[in-house]
Amino acid sequence: MLIAQISDCHIRDHEGWFGRLVDTTETLGLVVEHLLALEPAPDVILATGDLTDDGTPAQYAILRDVLAPIAERIVPLPGNHDEGPFFRLAFADLLPADTAVDHCSYVVDRHPVRLVGLDTSLPGRHDGLFDADREAWLEEALSADDRPTLVFTHFPPFDTGLVFMDQAGVSNADRLRATIERHPHVRLLVTGHLHRPIQTNTA
Ligand SMILES: [Fe+2]
Ligand SMILES: [Fe+2]
Repeated sequence: MLIAQISDCHIRDHEGWFGRLVDTTETLGLVVEHLLALEPAPDVILATGDLTDDGTPAQYAILRDVLAPIAERIVPLPGNHDEGPFFRLAFADLLPADTAVDHCSYVVDRHPVRLVGLDTSLPGRHDGLFDADREAWLEEALSADDRPTLVFTHFPPFDTGLVFMDQAGVSNADRLRATIERHPHVRLLVTGHLHRPIQTNTA
């Protein structure tokens, strides 16, 4: 099973100061072209949040348009720049019917590796929350099956050394790490938010 990841596309429908630096719609289009050219082709493409900059319907319309050639392989999760209700509407065709109600967390069970998506984003805020409800959801999702599992979420539950990122991360990150570590069949935790590749391990 081949898994690709895209993240933090930050699709916008206005320029702003950041927009003068990079056209995110054009950049994502190039990413889609690259993914389409990969041989062998990835089976799934995780999209780990901040898929739009402001979470508006107009921005989701642009996003879905750019992602159309790879839409059936996209496994989407919101980040702090997305807005839950509009995110759910935009990806209604890809989100399972049993997606959690109060957060957009869900499990994809149709591949050799189970994909467990944990949404810790909060409406109108830029930090994340791993509360008792999300902990219970994750515990149940990981206890349901002991096949090899990948957990994906927007906020990394570890310090990166990037102070401005670490100060506005996910709360109760230690509880999130502990929940995952109770389930050794979780082979990998994949996150977004950092806008750069950073890896760590649990050793
Ligand atoms: Fe981001
Ligand atoms: Fe983010």
